[in-house]
Amino acid sequence: MTESKTPSTRLMLASEAQTEALGERIGAVARAGLVVGLYGDLGAGKTALVRGLARGMALDGRVRSPTFTIASLHRGVVPLLHVDAYRLEDPTELALHGWQEWHQEGVIAVEWAQRVESMLPPRHLRIELSHRGEELRQGHIQVRGEGQDDAVEQAFLAAIVC
Ligand SMILES: Nc1ncnc2c1ncn2[C@@H]1O[C@H](COP(=O)(O)OP(=O)(O)O)[C@@H](O)[C@H]1O
Ligand SMILES: [Mg+2]
Repeated sequence: MTESKTPSTRLMLASEAQTEALGERIGAVARAGLVVGLYGDLGAGKTALVRGLARGMALDGRVRSPTFTIASLHRGVVPLLHVDAYRLEDPTELALHGWQEWHQEGVIAVEWAQRVESMLPPRHLRIELSHRGEELRQGHIQVRGEGQDDAVEQAFLAAIVC
Protein backbone atom coordinates (compact mmCIF):
# COMPACT_ATOMS: atom_id res chain seq x y z
CA MET A 1 0.00 0.00 0.00
CA THR A 2 1.31 3.46 -0.79
CA GLU A 3 1.57 5.84 2.10
CA SER A 4 0.27 9.33 1.37
CA LYS A 5 2.96 11.85 2.12
CA THR A 6 1.79 15.24 3.34
CA PRO A 7 3.96 18.31 2.86
CA SER A 8 6.24 19.27 5.71
CA THR A 9 9.32 21.37 6.19
CA ARG A 10 11.67 22.66 8.86
CA LEU A 11 13.04 26.15 9.02
CA MET A 12 15.26 28.11 11.37
CA LEU A 13 13.91 31.28 12.96
CA ALA A 14 16.80 33.43 14.16
CA SER A 15 14.77 36.11 15.97
CA GLU A 16 11.31 36.96 17.21
CA ALA A 17 10.92 39.12 14.10
CA GLN A 18 11.52 36.10 11.89
CA THR A 19 8.91 34.08 13.76
CA GLU A 20 6.44 36.95 13.38
CA ALA A 21 7.30 37.15 9.68
CA LEU A 22 6.48 33.45 9.30
CA GLY A 23 3.06 34.13 10.84
CA GLU A 24 2.62 37.16 8.63
CA ARG A 25 3.22 35.17 5.44
CA ILE A 26 0.58 32.67 6.53
CA GLY A 27 -1.81 35.48 7.52
CA ALA A 28 -1.47 37.10 4.11
CA VAL A 29 -3.08 34.07 2.44
CA ALA A 30 -5.29 32.95 5.34
CA ARG A 31 -8.85 32.07 4.42
CA ALA A 32 -11.86 31.08 6.50
CA GLY A 33 -11.53 27.47 7.52
CA LEU A 34 -7.82 27.55 8.24
CA VAL A 35 -6.87 26.01 11.58
CA VAL A 36 -3.30 26.38 12.80
CA GLY A 37 -2.25 24.12 15.68
CA LEU A 38 0.77 25.47 17.55
CA TYR A 39 3.07 23.28 19.61
CA GLY A 40 6.14 24.12 21.65
CA ASP A 41 7.27 24.94 25.18
CA LEU A 42 6.74 28.16 27.05
CA GLY A 43 8.66 30.92 25.27
CA ALA A 44 9.00 28.95 22.04
CA GLY A 45 7.32 31.77 20.12
CA LYS A 46 3.74 30.57 19.61
CA THR A 47 2.23 33.91 20.56
CA ALA A 48 4.82 35.76 18.46
CA LEU A 49 3.74 33.72 15.46
CA VAL A 50 0.07 34.53 16.09
CA ARG A 51 0.97 38.23 16.34
CA GLY A 52 2.42 37.99 12.83
CA LEU A 53 -0.60 36.01 11.66
CA ALA A 54 -2.94 38.79 12.80
CA ARG A 55 -0.76 41.39 11.12
CA GLY A 56 -0.75 39.41 7.87
CA MET A 57 -4.55 39.25 8.07
CA ALA A 58 -4.61 43.04 8.47
CA LEU A 59 -6.30 42.75 11.86
CA ASP A 60 -6.12 45.43 14.50
CA GLY A 61 -5.69 44.77 18.13
CA ARG A 62 -2.85 43.54 20.21
CA VAL A 63 -2.17 39.84 20.27
CA ARG A 64 -1.20 38.73 23.73
CA SER A 65 -0.97 35.41 25.37
CA PRO A 66 -4.61 34.67 26.17
CA THR A 67 -3.67 32.13 28.85
CA PHE A 68 -6.10 33.55 31.40
CA THR A 69 -8.90 34.19 28.96
CA ILE A 70 -8.53 30.99 26.89
CA ALA A 71 -9.61 32.72 23.69
CA SER A 72 -9.65 36.14 22.10
CA LEU A 73 -11.41 37.08 18.92
CA HIS A 74 -9.87 39.56 16.49
CA ARG A 75 -12.56 40.87 14.21
CA GLY A 76 -12.00 41.67 10.56
CA VAL A 77 -13.07 40.67 7.07
CA VAL A 78 -11.81 37.25 8.04
CA PRO A 79 -11.80 37.03 11.84
CA LEU A 80 -9.11 35.30 13.88
CA LEU A 81 -9.86 33.27 16.99
CA HIS A 82 -6.70 33.01 19.07
CA VAL A 83 -6.88 30.20 21.62
CA ASP A 84 -4.47 29.24 24.35
CA ALA A 85 -5.40 25.77 25.53
CA TYR A 86 -2.82 25.61 28.32
CA ARG A 87 -5.35 25.97 31.14
CA LEU A 88 -8.29 24.32 29.46
CA GLU A 89 -9.67 21.50 31.60
CA ASP A 90 -11.59 19.73 28.85
CA PRO A 91 -11.23 20.11 25.06
CA THR A 92 -15.01 20.18 24.60
CA GLU A 93 -15.07 23.47 26.56
CA LEU A 94 -13.83 25.08 23.35
CA ALA A 95 -17.44 25.06 22.20
CA LEU A 96 -18.04 27.76 24.84
CA HIS A 97 -15.42 29.95 23.21
CA GLY A 98 -16.95 29.98 19.75
CA TRP A 99 -14.82 27.20 18.31
CA GLN A 100 -17.51 25.76 16.02
CA GLU A 101 -18.69 29.13 14.82
CA TRP A 102 -15.26 30.56 14.04
CA HIS A 103 -14.03 27.35 12.57
CA GLN A 104 -16.51 27.91 9.76
CA GLU A 105 -16.27 31.64 9.43
CA GLY A 106 -12.73 32.50 10.31
CA VAL A 107 -9.22 31.39 11.06
CA ILE A 108 -8.31 29.65 14.31
CA ALA A 109 -4.84 29.61 15.81
CA VAL A 110 -4.49 27.45 18.91
CA GLU A 111 -1.50 27.39 21.27
CA TRP A 112 -0.85 24.14 23.17
CA ALA A 113 -2.79 22.32 20.47
CA GLN A 114 -1.83 18.96 22.01
CA ARG A 115 -4.34 19.70 24.77
CA VAL A 116 -7.24 19.91 22.32
CA GLU A 117 -6.16 17.46 19.65
CA SER A 118 -9.59 15.79 19.61
CA MET A 119 -11.12 19.13 18.54
CA LEU A 120 -8.74 19.81 15.66
CA PRO A 121 -10.23 19.14 12.23
CA PRO A 122 -8.45 16.35 10.35
CA ARG A 123 -7.22 18.95 7.90
CA HIS A 124 -5.07 21.59 9.61
CA LEU A 125 -1.65 23.17 9.64
CA ARG A 126 0.60 21.96 12.44
CA ILE A 127 3.48 24.18 13.51
CA GLU A 128 5.91 23.05 16.17
CA LEU A 129 8.43 25.54 17.53
CA SER A 130 11.48 24.34 19.46
CA HIS A 131 14.22 26.19 21.31
CA ARG A 132 17.58 25.92 19.62
CA GLY A 133 19.37 28.75 21.44
CA GLU A 134 18.67 32.03 23.15
CA GLU A 135 17.09 33.57 20.07
CA LEU A 136 17.08 30.61 17.76
CA ARG A 137 13.98 28.50 17.20
CA GLN A 138 13.27 25.68 14.80
CA GLY A 139 9.90 25.60 13.13
CA HIS A 140 8.49 22.30 11.90
CA ILE A 141 5.52 22.93 9.65
CA GLN A 142 3.26 20.13 8.54
CA VAL A 143 0.08 19.81 6.55
CA ARG A 144 -2.21 17.36 8.34
CA GLY A 145 -5.01 15.39 6.72
CA GLU A 146 -6.13 14.89 3.16
CA GLY A 147 -7.19 17.70 0.85
CA GLN A 148 -6.34 19.50 -2.33
CA ASP A 149 -5.66 23.08 -3.18
CA ASP A 150 -7.29 24.35 -0.03
CA ALA A 151 -6.68 26.90 2.71
CA VAL A 152 -4.24 24.64 4.55
CA GLU A 153 -2.14 23.94 1.48
CA GLN A 154 -2.07 27.66 0.61
CA ALA A 155 -0.94 28.53 4.11
CA PHE A 156 1.79 25.92 3.98
CA LEU A 157 3.11 27.24 0.69
CA ALA A 158 3.14 30.78 2.06
CA ALA A 159 4.95 29.60 5.19
CA ILE A 160 7.85 28.08 3.31
CA VAL A 161 8.52 31.12 1.16
CA CYS A 162 11.24 33.08 2.94
N1 LIG B 1 13.33 33.25 17.28
C1 LIG B 1 12.40 33.64 18.18
N2 LIG B 1 11.09 33.48 17.89
C2 LIG B 1 10.14 33.84 18.79
N3 LIG B 1 10.39 34.36 20.01
C3 LIG B 1 11.68 34.56 20.34
C4 LIG B 1 12.72 34.21 19.44
N4 LIG B 1 13.91 34.51 20.04
C5 LIG B 1 13.60 35.00 21.25
N5 LIG B 1 12.27 35.04 21.44
C6 LIG B 1 11.60 35.48 22.69
O1 LIG B 1 10.93 34.36 23.22
C7 LIG B 1 9.68 34.75 23.76
C8 LIG B 1 8.56 34.06 23.01
O2 LIG B 1 7.38 34.35 23.69
P1 LIG B 1 5.96 33.86 23.20
O3 LIG B 1 5.78 34.18 21.77
O4 LIG B 1 4.99 34.43 24.18
O5 LIG B 1 6.11 32.28 23.38
P2 LIG B 1 4.99 31.18 23.68
O6 LIG B 1 3.67 31.74 23.26
O7 LIG B 1 5.41 29.99 22.86
O8 LIG B 1 5.05 30.89 25.15
C9 LIG B 1 9.60 36.27 23.65
O9 LIG B 1 10.07 36.84 24.83
C10 LIG B 1 10.55 36.55 22.48
O10 LIG B 1 11.11 37.83 22.55
MG1 LIG C 1 1.84 31.96 24.23
